[in-house]
Amino acid sequence: MCMFVSRVLRGVQSFIMSSKYNVVFVLGGPGAGKGTQCAKIVEEYGYLHLSAGDLLREERDEAGSEYGELIEGHIKNGTIVPVEITCSLLERAMKKSEKDNFLIDGFPRNQNNLEGWNKEMGEKVNLKFVLFFECPLDVCTQRCLDRGAAGSGRSDDNIESLKKRFETYMNATMPIIDHYDAINLVRTVNATGTPEEIFEEVKKLFS
Ligand code: C5P
Ligand code: MG
Repeated sequence: MCMFVSRVLRGVQSFIMSSKYNVVFVLGGPGAGKGTQCAKIVEEYGYLHLSAGDLLREERDEAGSEYGELIEGHIKNGTIVPVEITCSLLERAMKKSEKDNFLIDGFPRNQNNLEGWNKEMGEKVNLKFVLFFECPLDVCTQRCLDRGAAGSGRSDDNIESLKKRFETYMNATMPIIDHYDAINLVRTVNATGTPEEIFEEVKKLFS
Protein backbone atom coordinates (compact mmCIF):
# COMPACT_ATOMS: atom_id res chain seq x y z
CA MET A 1 0.00 0.00 0.00
CA CYS A 2 2.67 2.42 1.14
CA MET A 3 4.87 1.53 -1.81
CA PHE A 4 1.92 1.94 -4.14
CA VAL A 5 1.16 5.42 -2.80
CA SER A 6 4.76 6.52 -3.06
CA ARG A 7 4.97 5.22 -6.62
CA VAL A 8 1.87 7.17 -7.58
CA LEU A 9 3.28 10.29 -5.93
CA ARG A 10 6.55 9.89 -7.81
CA GLY A 11 4.60 9.53 -11.04
CA VAL A 12 2.62 12.68 -10.33
CA GLN A 13 5.79 14.56 -9.47
CA SER A 14 7.59 13.50 -12.63
CA PHE A 15 4.52 14.37 -14.71
CA ILE A 16 4.44 17.87 -13.24
CA MET A 17 8.19 18.32 -13.81
CA SER A 18 8.06 17.04 -17.36
CA SER A 19 5.27 19.43 -18.29
CA LYS A 20 7.37 22.39 -17.21
CA TYR A 21 10.18 24.20 -18.96
CA ASN A 22 13.61 23.29 -17.59
CA VAL A 23 15.71 26.39 -17.14
CA VAL A 24 19.33 27.13 -16.28
CA PHE A 25 20.01 30.81 -15.67
CA VAL A 26 23.46 31.95 -16.78
CA LEU A 27 24.94 34.94 -14.97
CA GLY A 28 28.27 36.71 -14.68
CA GLY A 29 29.72 40.15 -15.40
CA PRO A 30 29.95 41.69 -18.86
CA GLY A 31 32.67 39.75 -20.72
CA ALA A 32 32.63 36.79 -18.32
CA GLY A 33 32.05 34.48 -21.30
CA LYS A 34 28.36 33.66 -20.88
CA GLY A 35 27.62 33.66 -24.61
CA THR A 36 30.76 31.70 -25.53
CA GLN A 37 30.07 28.97 -22.98
CA CYS A 38 26.36 28.81 -23.82
CA ALA A 39 27.25 28.06 -27.45
CA LYS A 40 29.37 25.13 -26.26
CA ILE A 41 26.64 23.83 -23.94
CA VAL A 42 24.14 23.97 -26.82
CA GLU A 43 26.47 21.92 -29.00
CA GLU A 44 27.17 19.29 -26.35
CA TYR A 45 23.92 19.06 -24.41
CA GLY A 46 21.22 20.29 -26.78
CA TYR A 47 19.83 23.15 -24.75
CA LEU A 48 18.26 26.13 -26.46
CA HIS A 49 20.22 29.31 -25.71
CA LEU A 50 18.23 32.50 -25.12
CA SER A 51 20.26 35.62 -24.37
CA ALA A 52 18.16 38.38 -22.82
CA GLY A 53 20.62 40.95 -24.21
CA ASP A 54 20.38 39.48 -27.74
CA LEU A 55 16.57 39.42 -27.59
CA LEU A 56 16.53 43.06 -26.46
CA ARG A 57 18.91 44.08 -29.27
CA GLU A 58 16.69 42.25 -31.79
CA GLU A 59 13.60 43.98 -30.47
CA ARG A 60 15.40 47.35 -30.59
CA ASP A 61 16.29 46.75 -34.26
CA GLU A 62 12.75 45.68 -35.20
CA ALA A 63 11.30 48.29 -37.57
CA GLY A 64 8.54 50.18 -35.78
CA SER A 65 9.18 48.64 -32.35
CA GLU A 66 7.56 50.84 -29.75
CA TYR A 67 10.37 49.96 -27.31
CA GLY A 68 13.39 50.60 -29.58
CA GLU A 69 14.48 53.89 -28.05
CA LEU A 70 13.81 52.84 -24.49
CA ILE A 71 15.88 49.68 -24.96
CA GLU A 72 18.80 51.49 -26.59
CA GLY A 73 18.80 54.07 -23.78
CA HIS A 74 19.19 51.31 -21.19
CA ILE A 75 21.82 49.45 -23.20
CA LYS A 76 24.05 52.52 -23.62
CA ASN A 77 23.61 53.36 -19.96
CA GLY A 78 24.20 49.82 -18.74
CA THR A 79 20.88 49.92 -16.89
CA ILE A 80 18.17 47.27 -16.90
CA VAL A 81 15.09 47.31 -19.13
CA PRO A 82 11.76 46.84 -17.26
CA VAL A 83 10.98 43.15 -16.82
CA GLU A 84 7.63 43.22 -18.64
CA ILE A 85 9.50 43.74 -21.91
CA THR A 86 12.32 41.26 -21.29
CA CYS A 87 10.14 38.55 -19.79
CA SER A 88 7.65 38.66 -22.63
CA LEU A 89 10.49 38.40 -25.19
CA LEU A 90 11.82 35.37 -23.32
CA GLU A 91 8.43 33.69 -22.99
CA ARG A 92 7.62 34.31 -26.64
CA ALA A 93 10.94 32.75 -27.71
CA MET A 94 10.40 29.77 -25.40
CA LYS A 95 6.92 29.08 -26.74
CA LYS A 96 7.98 29.53 -30.34
CA SER A 97 10.89 27.10 -29.97
CA GLU A 98 8.69 24.17 -28.89
CA LYS A 99 11.69 22.97 -26.83
CA ASP A 100 11.84 22.10 -23.11
CA ASN A 101 15.40 22.86 -22.01
CA PHE A 102 16.68 26.41 -21.93
CA LEU A 103 19.80 28.33 -21.05
CA ILE A 104 18.62 31.81 -20.18
CA ASP A 105 21.67 34.04 -20.37
CA GLY A 106 21.92 37.47 -18.75
CA PHE A 107 18.74 37.14 -16.73
CA PRO A 108 17.51 37.83 -14.02
CA ARG A 109 19.75 40.89 -13.71
CA ASN A 110 18.03 42.76 -10.86
CA GLN A 111 15.23 42.54 -8.32
CA ASN A 112 12.66 43.76 -10.86
CA ASN A 113 13.71 40.98 -13.30
CA LEU A 114 13.50 38.38 -10.53
CA GLU A 115 10.08 39.41 -9.26
CA GLY A 116 8.57 39.82 -12.72
CA TRP A 117 9.87 36.42 -13.79
CA ASN A 118 8.64 34.65 -10.67
CA LYS A 119 5.20 36.16 -11.07
CA GLU A 120 4.85 35.36 -14.76
CA MET A 121 6.94 32.18 -15.16
CA GLY A 122 7.48 30.79 -11.66
CA GLU A 123 4.79 28.13 -12.00
CA LYS A 124 5.70 27.19 -15.57
CA VAL A 125 9.37 26.58 -14.94
CA ASN A 126 11.61 24.08 -13.19
CA LEU A 127 14.74 26.11 -12.35
CA LYS A 128 17.59 23.59 -12.37
CA PHE A 129 20.39 25.89 -11.21
CA VAL A 130 22.13 29.20 -11.79
CA LEU A 131 25.40 28.90 -13.69
CA PHE A 132 27.64 31.69 -12.43
CA PHE A 133 30.78 32.68 -14.31
CA GLU A 134 33.09 34.35 -11.84
CA CYS A 135 35.60 36.68 -13.44
CA PRO A 136 37.67 39.63 -12.13
CA LEU A 137 36.75 43.05 -13.37
CA ASP A 138 40.04 43.73 -15.19
CA VAL A 139 39.77 40.49 -17.22
CA CYS A 140 36.13 41.23 -18.09
CA THR A 141 36.91 44.81 -19.10
CA GLN A 142 39.74 43.75 -21.39
CA ARG A 143 37.56 41.10 -23.09
CA CYS A 144 34.78 43.60 -23.79
CA LEU A 145 37.22 46.21 -25.11
CA ASP A 146 38.83 43.55 -27.34
CA ARG A 147 35.38 42.50 -28.52
CA GLY A 148 34.55 46.13 -29.32
CA ALA A 149 37.88 46.62 -31.14
CA ALA A 150 37.27 43.41 -33.13
CA GLY A 151 34.01 44.95 -34.40
CA SER A 152 31.26 43.57 -32.16
CA GLY A 153 29.19 46.52 -33.38
CA ARG A 154 27.79 46.85 -29.85
CA SER A 155 27.04 50.34 -28.62
CA ASP A 156 28.11 49.35 -25.10
CA ASP A 157 31.55 47.75 -25.61
CA ASN A 158 33.27 51.06 -24.81
CA ILE A 159 34.83 52.23 -21.59
CA GLU A 160 32.05 54.69 -20.63
CA SER A 161 29.25 52.14 -21.03
CA LEU A 162 31.37 49.41 -19.45
CA LYS A 163 31.83 51.40 -16.25
CA LYS A 164 28.07 51.69 -15.94
CA ARG A 165 27.51 48.02 -16.82
CA PHE A 166 29.86 46.98 -14.03
CA GLU A 167 28.18 49.29 -11.59
CA THR A 168 24.83 47.70 -12.42
CA TYR A 169 26.38 44.26 -12.14
CA MET A 170 27.81 44.93 -8.67
CA ASN A 171 24.79 46.77 -7.28
CA ALA A 172 21.87 45.00 -8.91
CA THR A 173 22.98 41.58 -10.21
CA MET A 174 25.25 40.38 -7.39
CA PRO A 175 22.35 40.50 -4.90
CA ILE A 176 20.38 38.20 -7.22
CA ILE A 177 23.26 35.72 -7.28
CA ASP A 178 23.44 35.96 -3.48
CA HIS A 179 19.70 35.27 -3.31
CA TYR A 180 20.05 32.06 -5.34
CA ASP A 181 23.19 31.11 -3.44
CA ALA A 182 21.26 31.29 -0.18
CA ILE A 183 18.90 28.62 -1.53
CA ASN A 184 21.78 26.49 -2.85
CA LEU A 185 21.04 26.96 -6.52
CA VAL A 186 24.31 28.61 -7.62
CA ARG A 187 27.00 26.59 -9.44
CA THR A 188 30.14 28.73 -9.72
CA VAL A 189 32.73 28.36 -12.46
CA ASN A 190 36.05 30.21 -12.54
CA ALA A 191 35.87 32.08 -15.84
CA THR A 192 39.39 33.45 -16.20
CA GLY A 193 40.89 30.71 -18.40
CA THR A 194 40.55 29.94 -22.09
CA PRO A 195 37.10 28.99 -23.41
CA GLU A 196 38.22 25.34 -23.56
CA GLU A 197 39.52 25.33 -19.98
CA ILE A 198 36.35 26.93 -18.70
CA PHE A 199 34.18 24.46 -20.61
CA GLU A 200 35.92 21.54 -18.87
CA GLU A 201 34.53 22.93 -15.60
CA VAL A 202 31.11 23.58 -17.11
CA LYS A 203 30.83 20.00 -18.36
CA LYS A 204 31.07 18.66 -14.81
CA LEU A 205 27.84 20.48 -14.00
CA PHE A 206 25.90 19.14 -16.98
CA SER A 207 26.92 15.52 -17.16
O1 C5P B 1 23.90 40.44 -21.47
P1 C5P B 1 24.33 41.55 -22.34
O2 C5P B 1 25.69 42.07 -21.97
O3 C5P B 1 24.20 41.25 -23.79
O4 C5P B 1 23.31 42.75 -22.04
C1 C5P B 1 23.49 43.99 -22.67
C2 C5P B 1 22.55 45.01 -22.09
O5 C5P B 1 21.19 44.62 -22.32
C3 C5P B 1 22.64 45.21 -20.59
O6 C5P B 1 23.73 46.05 -20.20
C4 C5P B 1 21.28 45.85 -20.30
O7 C5P B 1 21.27 47.22 -20.65
C5 C5P B 1 20.37 45.08 -21.26
N1 C5P B 1 19.76 43.94 -20.53
C6 C5P B 1 18.67 44.20 -19.72
N2 C5P B 1 18.08 43.19 -19.01
C7 C5P B 1 18.56 41.94 -19.08
C8 C5P B 1 19.69 41.64 -19.91
C9 C5P B 1 20.25 42.67 -20.62
O8 C5P B 1 18.23 45.35 -19.62
N3 C5P B 1 17.99 40.97 -18.35
MG1 MG C 1 26.05 37.88 -24.07
